[in-house]
Formats: sequence, structure tokens, C-alpha cells
Amino acid sequence: MKVAVIYASTTGNTEAMANAISDAVKAAGAELVFGTADSADKAAVTSCDVLLLGSPAMGDEVLEDSMEEFFASIEGSISGKKTAIFGSYDWGDGQWLRDWAERISKAGAAAAAKPLMINLTPGDSDLAKCKDWATAAIK
Ligand SMILES: Cc1cc2nc3c(=O)[nH]c(=O)nc-3n(C[C@H](O)[C@H](O)[C@H](O)COP(=O)(O)O)c2cc1C
Repeated sequence: MKVAVIYASTTGNTEAMANAISDAVKAAGAELVFGTADSADKAAVTSCDVLLLGSPAMGDEVLEDSMEEFFASIEGSISGKKTAIFGSYDWGDGQWLRDWAERISKAGAAAAAKPLMINLTPGDSDLAKCKDWATAAIK
């Protein structure tokens, strides 16, 4: 199985989540395509069986710019893919992930797990949660 973990992060919080998630993907023995949204290869990502995509809440409950640009570029090519989303936030209630999940559903992709949100910097228990979430998402 091939799994993509692609993320954007402005201060490292979503990046820490992505690192824990990729550790779990590797531990499960899956092939990993890992990187940031601003350098991700669209063809390599859409060739994966499962897409795990991360972005912090930015602007007013929207995706970080580079993830918005990357996701828009693959949005028409993810029908039938197993996809799950994650990210860090501060003061909101997760609207950015609910909106993103709706776009993913409208694109015809299946949710591999519920969206995972962590407040600000993930602590040890949050990172363990990220690993468990990834392990379940790629089953
Ligand atoms: C310009 C800006 C806009 C933000 N907008 C939101 C928001 O709409 N909702 C929210 O919950 N947090 C918002 N935040 C907080 C970030 O999501 C939070 O700091 C997060 O931990 C950043 O993760 P990162 O280090 O992966 O970029 C915003 C932060 C900045 C700097």
C-alpha cells in the first residue's frame, strides 16, 4: 500500500502532527510519499491508495495558502481515494476541517478517518493520538 502524507505548517505544529503520522505509516510497513504542500508532486500523490493531508486553520477558518493551492490542483483527481485530514488550530471550533471534509466528499473521495484537530503545539499524548489515527486510517 502507498500512503501520501502531505502537509502545510507555518510554525511547526501541523508539521509535528505530520511527522508522528508518517512514523505510524512507516511502522505499518506502507510505502510513504511525504512532504510539504508547496513541493508535493501531484502525480506521485494521486498514485497513492490513501491520502493523509494536513493544514492549520488559517485566515478565517480556511486552509493555509500552499495547501489550498495544492489541494485545488488534485481536487478533480481524488474520486474513489481514501482520504483523511488533520491540522492544528487555536481559537476556532474546527470549521476549516469540516469545510475541507465537505470538499473531499464532493470530490468523490472516501473518508478514511474522522478529521483530526489538535490545539496549538501537540504534546506527547496528542502525538500518540496522531499515530493511532494514522494507523486506523490506513487499515
Ligand atoms: C494568520 C493566522 C490566521 C489564523 N486563523 C485561525 C482560524 O481561523 N482559526 C483557528 O482556530 N486558528 C487560527 N490560527 C491559529 C493557527 O491555526 C495555530 O496557530 C496553529 O497552531 C498553527 O499551526 P502551524 O504551526 O502548523 O501553522 C491562525 C493563525 C494565524 C497566524
